[in-house]
Amino acid sequence: QVSAVSGKTLMETAVDNDVQGIVGECGGACQCATCHVYVSPEWMSAFPALNEAEDATLEGTVAERLSSSRLSCQLVVSDASEGAVVNVAPNQ
Ligand code: FES
Repeated sequence: QVSAVSGKTLMETAVDNDVQGIVGECGGACQCATCHVYVSPEWMSAFPALNEAEDATLEGTVAERLSSSRLSCQLVVSDASEGAVVNVAPNQ
């Protein structure tokens, strides 16, 4: 469990807090998929919608892509996401 600052991404927050399994190799450029997470279904609407670039990059994830898959570098923290539950994909 980590505290996040509104306006930062979940990937930045995870890296800042040494969350294991989140690498963020491309620095948030939506190109590496080493920030793959599974967002709990009830929290999906708390984050910006999936865009075309993220959708394409998610096709190359090491861990299985699920309907809840997102790239945490594209998930900006806001008041709406306070308390969100997000699980790190088992492999990056
Ligand atoms: Fe590379 Fe998210 S940090 S795709």
